[in-house]
Amino acid sequence: MKRPGLRWILLLVAGLWGLFLLVGGYNISATSGHFHGVPEVLEFTMRNSVHWRASEEPPGNLGDPALIRRGAGAFEDGCRLCHAMPGHAINPISAAMVPPPPPIEDAIRDWTASELFLLVRDGIKMTGMPAWPAPERDDEVWAVVAFLLAVPELETRDYERLVRPEINRGVLDEPGLSAIRSDILVRCSACHGNHGEDTGQGAFPLLNMLHPDYLEASLLAYRDGTRPSGIMAPQVANLGNRELRLLAEHFGNTLAATATPDTRDPPDAGNDEYHRARQLVETGDAKQRIPACSACHHPAGYPQSDRFPHLEGQPRAYIRQQLELFRAGHRGGSAFAPLMTLAAKYLSDDDIEALARYYGKAPDPAASASSR
Ligand code: HEC
Ligand code: HEC
Ligand code: HEC
Repeated sequence: MKRPGLRWILLLVAGLWGLFLLVGGYNISATSGHFHGVPEVLEFTMRNSVHWRASEEPPGNLGDPALIRRGAGAFEDGCRLCHAMPGHAINPISAAMVPPPPPIEDAIRDWTASELFLLVRDGIKMTGMPAWPAPERDDEVWAVVAFLLAVPELETRDYERLVRPEINRGVLDEPGLSAIRSDILVRCSACHGNHGEDTGQGAFPLLNMLHPDYLEASLLAYRDGTRPSGIMAPQVANLGNRELRLLAEHFGNTLAATATPDTRDPPDAGNDEYHRARQLVETGDAKQRIPACSACHHPAGYPQSDRFPHLEGQPRAYIRQQLELFRAGHRGGSAFAPLMTLAAKYLSDDDIEALARYYGKAPDPAASASSR
């Protein structure tokens, strides 16, 4: 007599399993937990998967206070909900997730910087741990990693100071502001100051030196996904056109094109880097196919548009970052952004450094120290 083949046995098992699923036999409820031993297997799988796939070299500036400050802002708005702030237990709603998110001190334990980068960029399938919403923005993910590496030294009080610098609540009583929802304004101010001013840390772009039309176009670009940022896009995702216009008017400066004071650091006139920057700004480099920056950006060069941002006095790191993003084709922006992508395409690393120094301001060491 012929015995049933292995094929038939497998088919029978698959059929029974299918029937089990069909009649709702598997309990997906988060209250029922996993079968015995399953969490250990999943944890083992996750650890090995991350360990063997983490290959990105960490950049050299992970200890930079401005980067940590930016990462802290991202954590406050995008991670705290689940992982709690340093020194706190996670809230009962997050604790009821399966698996529950670990408090942040535990979440970072035993991972290297490259592994944390991979976890934050790619998330963890089927756990509630999301991937970074802007996959082009490795720089933002590194900012979060810079913050995570600083967590062991942070008391709750330091954290509070980091993410919520003194906000002058009086800003809410200013005339004309009633039109903007106060919770939105307070949120923006946590990173950009009450009026988009220079906080001295160099972690965020200044807004009060930019024209409202440019700010409005930028906010629309973040919201509509044409300017990828995992930090800014969530801030404006649910805001309407009118709210964005009001915010642009609140933070921006209509006199930006004529009256912005030059707040750059005094140039190291005489050195080669400065000469190269001036060449690019004033005449460009036709051989390298780089146009003169001042053809569009202040100073000199007309006609200019209120949609071409001012650069003088922005944090150096911000200018450097934006130029790198434009060169890589990842910056995006308003309908005018392709002009800038073309202008940045052939810049060398040295050019970018020279231009960041020419236009930009170095962070104030005192402000950076007090933010820690
Ligand atoms: C919606 C909830 C949620 C949000 C938001 C979230 N996480 Fe998670 N995260 C989780 C869960 C759940 C796990 C546990 C996964 C597991 O145990 O396999 C996790 C795991 C992690 C881990 C690995 C910890 C470990 O060893 O198991 C790190 C690191 C981490 N998250 C960091 C972050 C950062 C940084 C952010 C913000 C950019 C963030 N998470 C946003 C839910 C969340
Ligand atoms: C968690 C910190 C944080 C919060 C909160 C925040 N921003 Fe930003 N903002 C940033 C960062 C970081 C950037 C630079 C993003 C990039 O690389 O594109 C930025 C960029 C911008 C820009 C573009 C500036 C430029 O020069 O192109 C505008 C406009 C802006 N933010 C307005 C706002 C408004 C309005 C709010 C409130 C609705 C807000 N931001 C809330 C961190 C924040
Ligand atoms: C043909 C016009 C044009 C030229 C030439 C040009 N830019 Fe731009 N640039 C723009 C426009 C338009 C934007 C804004 C794009 C957007 O977000 O919509 C911009 C944005 C930028 C930004 C980002 C500012 C911010 O606040 O986010 C930097 C930095 C910048 N340009 C630097 C330069 C430098 C340096 C040069 C010279 C090598 C240069 N640009 C040449 C048009 C130009």
